[in-house]
Amino acid sequence: MKQKYVLIDCDPGHDDVMAILSTIAHPDIFHILGITTVCGNNLVPLITENILNVLHYIHREDIPVCMGAENPLVYPPSPQAAHGYNGLEGFEFPKHSLKTVQQDVISFMKEKILSSPEPVTIMALAPLTNIATLLQKEPTIIDHIEQIVVMGGSWYRGNVIPHAEFNIYADPHAAKEVFSGKVSTVIIPLECCDDCTISEATVQSWIHDERYLTKMVGGIMDFFAIYGRQHQRTRHTIFDLAVTEYLLHPEIFEGEYCNCDVILLGEETRGQTVFTTNPNSKILVLKHADTNRFEQQIISDINLLANEII
Ligand code: BDR
Ligand code: CA
Repeated sequence: MKQKYVLIDCDPGHDDVMAILSTIAHPDIFHILGITTVCGNNLVPLITENILNVLHYIHREDIPVCMGAENPLVYPPSPQAAHGYNGLEGFEFPKHSLKTVQQDVISFMKEKILSSPEPVTIMALAPLTNIATLLQKEPTIIDHIEQIVVMGGSWYRGNVIPHAEFNIYADPHAAKEVFSGKVSTVIIPLECCDDCTISEATVQSWIHDERYLTKMVGGIMDFFAIYGRQHQRTRHTIFDLAVTEYLLHPEIFEGEYCNCDVILLGEETRGQTVFTTNPNSKILVLKHADTNRFEQQIISDINLLANEII
């Protein structure tokens, strides 16, 4: 597979970390230009600290991190309890002295995209505030973007309010801008994520694996699985990991080209995505994934990294 130059925009976040680890496991496929953070699962200073902790733990201090938007475009921040008190509960990271790049996030993204030898893929694992602002302020940047792959939205239901998924609910104005159809975009909504699960047995295997990396992965996944266990589930959805796996194996996903509108208002509808079939659209909305291949890929990626990172 041709190498992909990627920018990861995230709010780590347990599933964000799994997506990032899986990306790091494939240096032959992914060249990571940088990681940007955005207000989402928790406030941006906290979730930025989470990614610095992870990169320090896995000895990848070379990957630049730039702190992004502290607030959504219009609404106030909406931190989520599901990720614990600090946005990445479940593992106590050792102290580090890593720092973020001291640059405005939009100029950081612009610089990374324009200096890339190939058009860039943006992996969007969080509310779309940074990406929408980039597209608004630098409209010609779209010529240098290969595609944006977004975990967000839903066909029929919600996970924070009846009709909206969290990443779009948190900043619907940003989503409306990004989904306006100017850039090739892949949307991975909740219903596709229903197929992007790992079993409780896989989580347990990481918890009981004493290798350096799996101590961390087991800790954060054990915490992330609490919600599913409380709801008698034996499989756990690793939402953002779907973005990495789509880029690795698009053939295990299926979807349909659509226009996407975003509802901006309403107690039950703020952040609702409305998909309308349009074969000429630049937006591919996914519907299904091969669960078995999804799970086997992350098991293999974590095993590979756990043997390498000590
Ligand atoms: C999305 O919200 C966050 O909790 C996850 O990290 C994911 O990006 C799922 O709705
Ligand atoms: Ca996320």
